[in-house]
Amino acid sequence: MNREWLYELAVEARTKAYCPYSHFATGAALLGESGKVYLGCNVENAAYGPTNCAERTAFFKAVSEGERHFKAIAICGAPEGERPTKPCPPCGVCRQVMSEFCDGDFEIILSNGESGIAGYLFRQLLPLRFDLEDF
Ligand code: THU
Repeated sequence: MNREWLYELAVEARTKAYCPYSHFATGAALLGESGKVYLGCNVENAAYGPTNCAERTAFFKAVSEGERHFKAIAICGAPEGERPTKPCPPCGVCRQVMSEFCDGDFEIILSNGESGIAGYLFRQLLPLRFDLEDF
């Protein structure tokens, strides 16, 4: 899997962000086991609570199209109009959604804060997770 390629797709997805409240635009590119990529952006709402992060947009698109097994996700985020350079790690809610469909080897690709990217494993981002299969 080419991490740079997936990250560039997340940057592309971010151009569709709907963020008139926070003015913080995010993008995600989720690679399924099938090889298909699902793009997502944040979609905000006047009531704030219904806002959906880029990561969950990508997951819900994928699952609703029949894909349930995933290899990696690339995520980027920055104030609207700025280039994403700092890492934009997934929020707790998105990590819990990932937990439903991903194992510990699932890879999360973020900016490294300079001009490159860094890969993390899901088990690093959500250690000691709740999993019904453990019981
Ligand atoms: N957001 C994401 O889409 N992904 C993240 O990982 C963190 C935050 C969105 C939610 C909201 O629309 C905006 O960024 C500011 O929090």
